[in-house]
Amino acid sequence: MSNQLDQLRQQFLAYLAAHPFRKSPIGLYEPVDYIMQLGGKRMRPILALLAYQLFKKDVDAALPVAMAVEVFHNFSLVHDDIMDAADLRRGKPTVHAKYDTNTAILSGDVMLIKSYQYLAQIGDPHIQAKLIQVFNQVAIEVCEGQQYDVDFENRSDVRIDEYLKMIEYKTAALLAGSLSMGAIAAGADEAAVAHLDRFGRKVGIAFQIQDDLLDSFGDPAKFGKKVGGDICQNKKTILILQALKDGNANEQAQLNQLLSTPTTNEQQKITAVKSLLEHLHIPTKVKTLRDQYLAEALQELETLEVEAAQKAPLFAIANQLVDRVI
Ligand code: IPE
Ligand code: IPE
Ligand code: MG
Ligand code: MG
Ligand code: MG
Repeated sequence: MSNQLDQLRQQFLAYLAAHPFRKSPIGLYEPVDYIMQLGGKRMRPILALLAYQLFKKDVDAALPVAMAVEVFHNFSLVHDDIMDAADLRRGKPTVHAKYDTNTAILSGDVMLIKSYQYLAQIGDPHIQAKLIQVFNQVAIEVCEGQQYDVDFENRSDVRIDEYLKMIEYKTAALLAGSLSMGAIAAGADEAAVAHLDRFGRKVGIAFQIQDDLLDSFGDPAKFGKKVGGDICQNKKTILILQALKDGNANEQAQLNQLLSTPTTNEQQKITAVKSLLEHLHIPTKVKTLRDQYLAEALQELETLEVEAAQKAPLFAIANQLVDRVI
Protein backbone atom coordinates (compact mmCIF):
# COMPACT_ATOMS: atom_id res chain seq x y z
CA MET A 1 0.00 0.00 0.00
CA SER A 2 2.76 2.38 0.89
CA ASN A 3 3.91 1.54 -2.64
CA GLN A 4 0.99 3.51 -3.99
CA LEU A 5 1.83 6.42 -1.68
CA ASP A 6 5.49 6.29 -2.76
CA GLN A 7 4.44 6.26 -6.39
CA LEU A 8 2.31 9.38 -5.94
CA ARG A 9 5.16 11.05 -4.06
CA GLN A 10 7.48 10.27 -6.99
CA GLN A 11 4.97 11.66 -9.47
CA PHE A 12 4.70 14.85 -7.46
CA LEU A 13 8.50 15.16 -7.11
CA ALA A 14 8.93 14.77 -10.87
CA TYR A 15 6.39 17.56 -11.44
CA LEU A 16 8.16 19.76 -8.87
CA ALA A 17 11.54 19.13 -10.53
CA ALA A 18 10.04 20.09 -13.90
CA HIS A 19 8.73 23.39 -12.47
CA PRO A 20 11.62 25.22 -10.79
CA PHE A 21 10.92 28.72 -9.47
CA ARG A 22 14.42 29.98 -10.18
CA LYS A 23 14.44 33.15 -12.27
CA SER A 24 15.37 36.81 -11.87
CA PRO A 25 15.53 38.37 -9.30
CA ILE A 26 17.38 35.42 -7.87
CA GLY A 27 17.29 36.91 -4.35
CA LEU A 28 13.52 36.41 -4.37
CA TYR A 29 13.30 32.98 -6.03
CA GLU A 30 16.38 31.08 -4.86
CA PRO A 31 14.99 30.76 -1.31
CA VAL A 32 11.75 29.40 -2.81
CA ASP A 33 13.60 26.57 -4.57
CA TYR A 34 15.68 26.09 -1.42
CA ILE A 35 12.70 25.42 0.84
CA MET A 36 10.71 23.51 -1.78
CA GLN A 37 13.63 21.15 -2.41
CA LEU A 38 14.65 20.73 1.21
CA GLY A 39 12.55 17.60 1.36
CA GLY A 40 9.65 17.06 3.65
CA LYS A 41 7.16 14.25 3.62
CA ARG A 42 4.96 15.73 0.85
CA MET A 43 1.86 14.59 2.71
CA ARG A 44 -0.46 17.32 1.43
CA PRO A 45 0.14 16.76 -2.30
CA ILE A 46 -0.18 13.01 -1.75
CA LEU A 47 -3.50 13.57 0.04
CA ALA A 48 -4.75 15.73 -2.83
CA LEU A 49 -3.75 13.12 -5.42
CA LEU A 50 -5.22 10.25 -3.39
CA ALA A 51 -8.55 12.05 -3.02
CA TYR A 52 -8.58 12.78 -6.75
CA GLN A 53 -7.87 9.11 -7.50
CA LEU A 54 -10.92 8.00 -5.56
CA PHE A 55 -13.04 9.54 -8.31
CA LYS A 56 -10.84 9.80 -11.43
CA LYS A 57 -7.79 7.96 -12.70
CA ASP A 58 -5.90 10.58 -14.79
CA VAL A 59 -3.96 11.80 -11.77
CA ASP A 60 -1.67 14.06 -13.85
CA ALA A 61 -4.55 16.52 -14.20
CA ALA A 62 -4.49 17.07 -10.42
CA LEU A 63 -0.76 17.87 -10.19
CA PRO A 64 -1.31 21.67 -10.22
CA VAL A 65 -3.64 21.29 -7.22
CA ALA A 66 -1.04 19.13 -5.46
CA MET A 67 1.56 21.80 -6.23
CA ALA A 68 -0.69 24.58 -4.92
CA VAL A 69 -1.16 22.93 -1.52
CA GLU A 70 2.54 22.07 -1.15
CA VAL A 71 3.67 25.57 -2.13
CA PHE A 72 1.16 27.05 0.32
CA HIS A 73 2.36 24.67 3.05
CA ASN A 74 5.99 25.67 2.47
CA PHE A 75 5.04 29.36 2.44
CA SER A 76 3.36 28.87 5.82
CA LEU A 77 6.53 27.19 7.16
CA VAL A 78 8.78 30.03 5.98
CA HIS A 79 6.67 32.58 7.86
CA ASP A 80 6.05 30.22 10.80
CA ASP A 81 9.80 29.81 11.31
CA ILE A 82 10.19 33.58 11.58
CA MET A 83 7.33 33.75 14.08
CA ASP A 84 8.69 30.80 16.11
CA ALA A 85 12.32 32.00 15.95
CA ALA A 86 13.22 28.57 14.56
CA ASP A 87 16.63 28.10 12.94
CA LEU A 88 16.30 24.47 11.83
CA ARG A 89 13.84 22.89 9.40
CA ARG A 90 14.16 19.43 7.80
CA GLY A 91 17.64 19.23 9.29
CA LYS A 92 18.80 22.41 7.49
CA PRO A 93 18.83 26.17 8.22
CA THR A 94 15.42 27.83 7.87
CA VAL A 95 15.01 30.46 5.16
CA HIS A 96 15.32 33.44 7.50
CA ALA A 97 18.41 31.89 9.14
CA LYS A 98 20.10 31.08 5.82
CA TYR A 99 19.19 34.35 4.08
CA ASP A 100 17.51 36.99 6.30
CA THR A 101 14.10 37.89 7.65
CA ASN A 102 13.15 40.33 4.89
CA THR A 103 13.96 37.66 2.31
CA ALA A 104 11.84 35.12 4.20
CA ILE A 105 8.90 37.56 4.28
CA LEU A 106 8.99 38.41 0.58
CA SER A 107 9.87 34.93 -0.74
CA GLY A 108 7.02 33.64 1.43
CA ASP A 109 4.67 36.24 -0.04
CA VAL A 110 5.48 35.27 -3.62
CA MET A 111 4.93 31.59 -2.74
CA LEU A 112 1.44 32.36 -1.49
CA ILE A 113 0.65 34.06 -4.79
CA LYS A 114 2.24 31.22 -6.78
CA SER A 115 -0.05 28.75 -5.05
CA TYR A 116 -3.06 30.64 -6.46
CA GLN A 117 -1.41 30.71 -9.88
CA TYR A 118 -1.26 26.91 -9.85
CA LEU A 119 -4.93 26.68 -8.98
CA ALA A 120 -5.74 29.03 -11.84
CA GLN A 121 -4.39 26.34 -14.18
CA ILE A 122 -7.46 24.19 -13.60
CA GLY A 123 -9.39 24.76 -16.81
CA ASP A 124 -13.01 24.02 -15.83
CA PRO A 125 -14.28 27.41 -14.54
CA HIS A 126 -16.85 25.88 -12.17
CA ILE A 127 -14.26 23.55 -10.57
CA GLN A 128 -11.67 26.34 -10.43
CA ALA A 129 -14.10 28.64 -8.61
CA LYS A 130 -14.91 25.92 -6.06
CA LEU A 131 -11.22 25.19 -5.51
CA ILE A 132 -10.46 28.84 -4.87
CA GLN A 133 -13.39 29.14 -2.48
CA VAL A 134 -12.12 26.21 -0.38
CA PHE A 135 -8.52 27.40 -0.58
CA ASN A 136 -9.46 30.92 0.59
CA GLN A 137 -11.24 29.47 3.60
CA VAL A 138 -8.23 27.25 4.42
CA ALA A 139 -5.78 30.13 4.08
CA ILE A 140 -7.85 32.33 6.40
CA GLU A 141 -8.11 29.54 8.97
CA VAL A 142 -4.34 29.00 8.88
CA CYS A 143 -3.77 32.70 9.63
CA GLU A 144 -6.35 32.64 12.43
CA GLY A 145 -4.80 29.49 13.91
CA GLN A 146 -1.34 31.02 13.77
CA GLN A 147 -2.60 34.13 15.59
CA TYR A 148 -4.21 32.03 18.35
CA ASP A 149 -0.95 30.08 18.67
CA VAL A 150 1.01 33.31 19.19
CA ASP A 151 -1.62 34.80 21.54
CA PHE A 152 -1.48 31.65 23.68
CA GLU A 153 2.28 32.08 24.27
CA ASN A 154 1.45 34.87 26.71
CA ARG A 155 -1.44 33.17 28.48
CA SER A 156 -1.40 30.62 31.30
CA ASP A 157 -5.16 29.90 31.22
CA VAL A 158 -5.55 28.32 27.76
CA ARG A 159 -8.25 25.65 27.77
CA ILE A 160 -7.90 22.37 25.87
CA ASP A 161 -10.94 23.20 23.73
CA GLU A 162 -9.25 26.48 22.72
CA TYR A 163 -6.08 24.55 21.87
CA LEU A 164 -8.03 22.05 19.76
CA LYS A 165 -9.62 24.86 17.76
CA MET A 166 -6.19 26.50 17.31
CA ILE A 167 -4.59 23.33 15.89
CA GLU A 168 -7.62 22.54 13.75
CA TYR A 169 -7.14 25.94 12.13
CA LYS A 170 -3.36 26.16 11.88
CA THR A 171 -2.73 22.58 10.77
CA ALA A 172 -5.77 20.37 10.20
CA ALA A 173 -7.54 22.82 7.87
CA LEU A 174 -4.84 22.48 5.20
CA LEU A 175 -4.62 18.69 5.46
CA ALA A 176 -8.40 18.54 5.12
CA GLY A 177 -8.34 21.15 2.36
CA SER A 178 -5.80 19.10 0.39
CA LEU A 179 -8.21 16.15 0.39
CA SER A 180 -11.28 18.26 -0.40
CA MET A 181 -9.52 20.05 -3.21
CA GLY A 182 -8.29 16.79 -4.75
CA ALA A 183 -11.85 15.47 -4.69
CA ILE A 184 -13.31 18.72 -6.06
CA ALA A 185 -10.80 18.67 -8.93
CA ALA A 186 -12.14 15.22 -9.85
CA GLY A 187 -15.73 16.48 -9.81
CA ALA A 188 -16.76 14.61 -6.63
CA ASP A 189 -20.16 15.48 -5.13
CA GLU A 190 -20.52 17.72 -2.08
CA ALA A 191 -21.31 14.91 0.35
CA ALA A 192 -18.09 13.07 -0.50
CA VAL A 193 -16.08 16.31 -0.25
CA ALA A 194 -17.59 17.06 3.18
CA HIS A 195 -16.83 13.52 4.31
CA LEU A 196 -13.17 13.80 3.28
CA ASP A 197 -12.97 17.19 5.00
CA ARG A 198 -14.16 15.66 8.29
CA PHE A 199 -11.64 12.83 7.95
CA GLY A 200 -8.85 15.34 7.21
CA ARG A 201 -9.68 17.52 10.20
CA LYS A 202 -9.64 14.58 12.62
CA VAL A 203 -6.43 13.14 11.26
CA GLY A 204 -4.93 16.65 11.15
CA ILE A 205 -5.62 17.17 14.84
CA ALA A 206 -3.93 13.83 15.61
CA PHE A 207 -1.03 14.90 13.37
CA GLN A 208 -0.49 18.18 15.27
CA ILE A 209 -0.71 16.41 18.66
CA GLN A 210 2.07 14.12 17.41
CA ASP A 211 3.99 17.22 16.25
CA ASP A 212 3.75 18.67 19.77
CA LEU A 213 4.93 15.39 21.24
CA LEU A 214 7.91 15.16 18.87
CA ASP A 215 8.85 18.78 19.49
CA SER A 216 9.67 17.91 23.10
CA PHE A 217 10.36 14.17 23.01
CA GLY A 218 11.46 13.43 19.42
CA ASP A 219 14.86 12.02 18.48
CA PRO A 220 17.09 15.04 17.65
CA ALA A 221 18.99 12.89 15.12
CA LYS A 222 15.81 12.31 13.10
CA PHE A 223 13.32 15.10 13.88
CA GLY A 224 14.92 17.80 11.69
CA LYS A 225 13.68 20.63 13.94
CA LYS A 226 15.09 21.80 17.27
CA VAL A 227 13.88 19.50 20.03
CA GLY A 228 12.58 21.77 22.80
CA GLY A 229 11.75 24.65 20.46
CA ASP A 230 8.13 24.85 21.66
CA ILE A 231 9.28 24.94 25.30
CA CYS A 232 11.68 27.81 24.57
CA GLN A 233 8.85 29.76 22.88
CA ASN A 234 6.42 29.13 25.76
CA LYS A 235 4.00 27.42 23.35
CA LYS A 236 0.83 26.14 24.96
CA THR A 237 1.11 22.70 23.44
CA ILE A 238 -1.15 19.88 24.51
CA LEU A 239 1.72 18.63 26.68
CA ILE A 240 1.77 21.81 28.72
CA LEU A 241 -2.02 22.13 28.96
CA GLN A 242 -2.38 18.53 30.14
CA ALA A 243 0.36 19.08 32.73
CA LEU A 244 -1.29 22.28 34.00
CA LYS A 245 -4.49 20.28 34.37
CA ASP A 246 -2.99 17.23 36.08
CA GLY A 247 -0.24 18.76 38.22
CA ASN A 248 -0.74 19.73 41.86
CA ALA A 249 -0.71 23.41 42.85
CA ASN A 250 3.04 23.34 43.35
CA GLU A 251 3.71 21.73 39.98
CA GLN A 252 1.34 24.13 38.22
CA ALA A 253 3.13 27.10 39.78
CA GLN A 254 6.52 25.67 38.81
CA LEU A 255 5.45 25.15 35.21
CA ASN A 256 3.85 28.60 34.93
CA GLN A 257 6.99 30.12 36.35
CA LEU A 258 9.21 28.27 33.83
CA LEU A 259 7.00 29.38 30.95
CA SER A 260 6.62 33.03 31.89
CA THR A 261 10.15 34.10 32.73
CA PRO A 262 12.55 35.11 29.94
CA THR A 263 14.73 32.20 28.88
CA THR A 264 18.30 32.64 30.08
CA ASN A 265 19.53 29.07 29.90
CA GLU A 266 17.61 27.21 27.17
CA GLN A 267 18.86 23.70 27.93
CA GLN A 268 18.12 24.13 31.63
CA LYS A 269 14.58 25.27 30.87
CA ILE A 270 14.00 22.40 28.40
CA THR A 271 15.29 19.82 30.87
CA ALA A 272 13.21 21.20 33.74
CA VAL A 273 9.97 21.30 31.72
CA LYS A 274 10.52 17.85 30.22
CA SER A 275 11.21 16.20 33.57
CA LEU A 276 8.02 17.70 34.98
CA LEU A 277 6.09 16.42 31.95
CA GLU A 278 7.57 12.95 32.35
CA HIS A 279 6.89 12.91 36.07
CA LEU A 280 3.20 13.55 35.31
CA HIS A 281 3.16 10.84 32.56
CA ILE A 282 2.10 13.44 30.03
CA PRO A 283 3.53 11.70 26.91
CA THR A 284 1.38 8.61 27.56
CA LYS A 285 -1.75 10.68 28.18
CA VAL A 286 -1.22 12.78 25.09
CA LYS A 287 -0.74 9.65 22.96
CA THR A 288 -4.14 8.47 24.15
CA LEU A 289 -5.76 11.72 23.01
CA ARG A 290 -3.91 11.53 19.67
CA ASP A 291 -5.09 7.95 19.14
CA GLN A 292 -8.69 8.94 19.90
CA TYR A 293 -8.59 11.48 17.07
CA LEU A 294 -6.95 8.94 14.77
CA ALA A 295 -9.67 6.41 15.61
CA GLU A 296 -12.37 9.00 14.86
CA ALA A 297 -10.66 9.79 11.57
CA LEU A 298 -10.57 6.12 10.59
CA GLN A 299 -14.24 5.85 11.53
CA GLU A 300 -15.00 8.64 9.05
CA LEU A 301 -13.18 6.67 6.36
CA GLU A 302 -15.16 3.51 7.11
CA THR A 303 -18.37 5.27 6.19
CA LEU A 304 -17.06 7.03 3.07
CA GLU A 305 -19.00 5.62 0.14
CA VAL A 306 -16.26 4.38 -2.15
CA GLU A 307 -14.97 0.84 -2.71
CA ALA A 308 -12.99 -0.60 0.21
CA ALA A 309 -9.92 -1.34 -1.95
CA GLN A 310 -9.89 2.28 -3.12
CA LYS A 311 -9.82 3.53 0.47
CA ALA A 312 -6.89 1.37 1.58
CA PRO A 313 -4.18 3.97 0.77
CA LEU A 314 -6.10 6.57 2.78
CA PHE A 315 -6.03 4.28 5.82
CA ALA A 316 -2.31 3.81 5.22
CA ILE A 317 -1.55 7.54 4.99
CA ALA A 318 -3.64 8.31 8.09
CA ASN A 319 -1.47 5.91 10.07
CA GLN A 320 1.73 7.32 8.55
CA LEU A 321 0.70 10.88 9.41
CA VAL A 322 0.30 9.97 13.05
CA ASP A 323 3.10 7.36 13.51
CA ARG A 324 5.74 9.69 12.16
CA VAL A 325 9.09 10.38 13.85
CA ILE A 326 9.97 13.31 11.55
C1 IPE B 1 5.05 20.75 9.55
O1 IPE B 1 4.38 19.94 8.65
C2 IPE B 1 4.12 21.79 10.05
C3 IPE B 1 3.00 21.27 10.82
C4 IPE B 1 1.79 21.50 10.50
C5 IPE B 1 3.25 20.48 12.01
P1 IPE B 1 5.03 18.61 8.09
O2 IPE B 1 5.47 17.75 9.22
O3 IPE B 1 4.11 18.00 7.11
O4 IPE B 1 6.33 19.16 7.36
P2 IPE B 1 7.17 18.58 6.13
O5 IPE B 1 6.64 19.24 4.90
O6 IPE B 1 7.02 17.08 6.09
O7 IPE B 1 8.58 19.01 6.43
C1 IPE C 1 2.78 24.89 12.24
O1 IPE C 1 2.76 24.68 13.60
C2 IPE C 1 1.55 25.37 11.61
C3 IPE C 1 1.85 26.12 10.38
C4 IPE C 1 3.03 26.18 9.82
C5 IPE C 1 0.79 26.85 9.78
P1 IPE C 1 4.20 24.49 14.24
O2 IPE C 1 4.86 25.78 14.49
O3 IPE C 1 4.08 23.52 15.36
O4 IPE C 1 4.99 23.73 13.05
P2 IPE C 1 6.51 23.33 13.11
O5 IPE C 1 6.68 22.46 14.34
O6 IPE C 1 7.31 24.58 13.18
O7 IPE C 1 6.75 22.52 11.87
MG1 MG D 1 6.90 26.33 14.12
MG1 MG E 1 4.22 27.75 14.84
MG1 MG F 1 5.52 22.09 15.88
